[in-house]
Amino acid sequence: MDPLDSLQAEAVAEFAAIDDPDLLEQVKARYLGKQGLITERMKALGGMEPEARKAEGARINRVKTGVEEALNARREALREAALAQQLAAEALDVSLPGRGTGAGGWHPVSRVRERVCELFAGIGFEVADGPEIETDFFNFTALNTPDDHPARSMHDTFYIEGSDRLLRTHTSPIQVRYMQAHQPPLRIVAPGRVYRVDSDATHSPMFHQIEGLWVDRDVSFADLKGVVTQFLQRFFEREDLQVRFRPSFFPFTEPSAEIDMAWGDRWLEIGGCGMVHPNVLRHVNIDPEEFRGFAFGFGIDRLAMLRYGVRDLRLFYENDLRFLRQFV
Ligand code: FA5
Ligand code: MG
Repeated sequence: MDPLDSLQAEAVAEFAAIDDPDLLEQVKARYLGKQGLITERMKALGGMEPEARKAEGARINRVKTGVEEALNARREALREAALAQQLAAEALDVSLPGRGTGAGGWHPVSRVRERVCELFAGIGFEVADGPEIETDFFNFTALNTPDDHPARSMHDTFYIEGSDRLLRTHTSPIQVRYMQAHQPPLRIVAPGRVYRVDSDATHSPMFHQIEGLWVDRDVSFADLKGVVTQFLQRFFEREDLQVRFRPSFFPFTEPSAEIDMAWGDRWLEIGGCGMVHPNVLRHVNIDPEEFRGFAFGFGIDRLAMLRYGVRDLRLFYENDLRFLRQFV
């Protein structure tokens, strides 16, 4: 065989026998590298007569192309083999039984929220909504809350640095937003997340309230007591509930009360309420001589504690399925 042809045959055979990509690159250098066998032959062309050089040059190029093609084919084959091996190693046995696909369920706090909304919808309350990131104006000012009120302190409230925004501390700003957009008579409930710097068995830094607001020409404190008491009787499905209205103070209601329920041998506060303060109505251009209203704000998590007999409401937020599954 012509020495050039046998060089090509030798290279092709050698490539084909190699299984290791790094070794393949080393062997390539022997033929195509700077001092490789083919490269050396190219260099030798310089000393030849022009006619012979042309013919020999063409032959060497053909052999070089053949060797390069063989090299590339082998590279590709090794790459595919490596991929196939990896896929085989990572294969899943799809015939194994799965981990189970239990259906999800409602979180107990969501269940209570839905149920409270339903009960109020049954007596004509619409459901309203508002942002969790509020402005100082809606959370405090429009609710007649003075600058030195303790709820406004850095200590109690999560402020957004460098702005007049904060995480709302209650759902009461929705009262203002709704009354800016709607004229009385109006009747709404508005559930949502609220935030305070608080944490113990009955306080969580993120919790839920549901606001209620009823504004009309002749709404009284007696109506407030009636609506709240009836709601609680329906929610807890008992007539003989131990509920008390404890005189209290909110800047946005007058008079005001806290609503407590029996909890073991103690009382647990479940909400605040009162008659909407005339200043709040004036802020939204409702004439307090013509309209009156009442408002309340229940802690949804507290209602869930009482309903399900949970001693520490922070359990609702640990995402422990062993706890949460009990309510599904
Ligand atoms: C208010 O937030 C008033 N906006 C309620 C209100 C609305 C009064 C309308 C008048 C008219 P208070 O701070 O008391 O009030 O909170 C209301 C309820 O939220 C409490 O009674 C309690 O049930 C619940 N609550 C308060 N802080 C927490 C907390 N950190 N974790 C869980 N529940 C809480
Ligand atoms: Mg309170």
